[in-house]
Amino acid sequence: MQVLIIIFCVASCWAFPRFDEVAEVCIPTECNITNDCRCCSTDNPVSDADDPAPQLIAITLSQFLTQEVYDIIKPLFFDRSNPDGKPRGFTFYVSHEHTNYTLVQDLYLRGFEIGDNSITRDAGQAYWKLATLQDLREEFGGQRTIISTFANIPKEDIVGVRTPQLQLGGDTSIQAYIDSGLTYDNSWPTTTTNRVLPYTLDYASTQQCVTPIRCPEESHPHFWIAPISSIIGADGRECNSLATCDVRGTADDIAAWLIEQVDIVRKGNRAPLILRVHVYWFEFIDNSFEGFSKFLEQASELKDVFFVSVQDVLAWIHNPVPLSQYTTPLHDDRHAGCLPINCQYLNEYGDERWMGSCVPCPPNYPWKGNPLGE
Ligand SMILES: *[C@@H]1O[C@H](CO)[C@@H](O)[C@H](O)[C@H]1NC(C)=O
Ligand SMILES: *[C@@H]1O[C@H](CO)[C@@H](O)[C@H](O)[C@H]1NC(C)=O
Repeated sequence: MQVLIIIFCVASCWAFPRFDEVAEVCIPTECNITNDCRCCSTDNPVSDADDPAPQLIAITLSQFLTQEVYDIIKPLFFDRSNPDGKPRGFTFYVSHEHTNYTLVQDLYLRGFEIGDNSITRDAGQAYWKLATLQDLREEFGGQRTIISTFANIPKEDIVGVRTPQLQLGGDTSIQAYIDSGLTYDNSWPTTTTNRVLPYTLDYASTQQCVTPIRCPEESHPHFWIAPISSIIGADGRECNSLATCDVRGTADDIAAWLIEQVDIVRKGNRAPLILRVHVYWFEFIDNSFEGFSKFLEQASELKDVFFVSVQDVLAWIHNPVPLSQYTTPLHDDRHAGCLPINCQYLNEYGDERWMGSCVPCPPNYPWKGNPLGE
């Protein structure tokens, strides 16, 4: 195989200048955490049965942030602590339309992770599939600029991205992320039978590529994939969003189902669990809000379970300590100024459109191709 590749390359490398970027099979001795590299694998770097890895859980949202959304998530995520007494974390991948950036700054200052979910959050799957590198740079690089400008938070702290409807566009998406200064993706679901831990794209991924997404095939050194964890939902079906898992019942039933899903992983390879939550889950499935709250409450009895952000999951994998040495990362050193203002615009149909901002209103509503609203 290698010989074939070399022969092919000698014959045709000038014609395909990117050919040498096709990722090779990962070799753990070449790819290790000391050089910010990790092979795609289900191996947990901590494998001591007496002192295992902490069971990390990252709850993630990916949508716009309005006052209404903020009021829903507040009782779920604020003022809850991990077994070490430190505050729990979570990750919010923010899309642009309807978002109130003063609230984005509020979440950031509370120590939560703010990530990027594009500007348009276009509902068409084809849009993301057919998007060019330039489109994707404008979507993700643009949203990173919008968040840092109007929430007035440092760009360096916005490093994670989730693509709308999980529509990864293969290497083009990853290249657009890298060009936009993003360092990890959280859009690619695992299967429950192959719970891979976060890894880099230096070498070829062995994570199952479930259609209809397009998975990256080239090498993207030091770019991280934090896989979304699939779990078992209603009727034993695999699912990767608590809403689409479609488990119904009393609040106790929903809480018990989630505790069971955590137990499966705790007793397995203890891969970090990265779960997707949507606010619409609470609207469409009875008892889901109370059930999810109960789950968050009951999980605090599990002394090896820590709720953190995806960024914190990646920090642990860079320094994979066992449970006895693990402490929740603190993000209490964040500072940002805000002079809150409501900016008013009209959309293309002449309807009012508002944007809460921490800095003076730009003349135009920020959008793809014009993130600063100039
Ligand atoms: C880590 O990878 C580098 C090469 O990239 C290698 O020189 C080093 O020996 C590796 N370390 C381990 C512990 O395998
Ligand atoms: C944004 O949130 C702030 C803080 O709650 C609020 O005062 C402001 O009215 C909101 N702006 C908009 C446009 O909803």
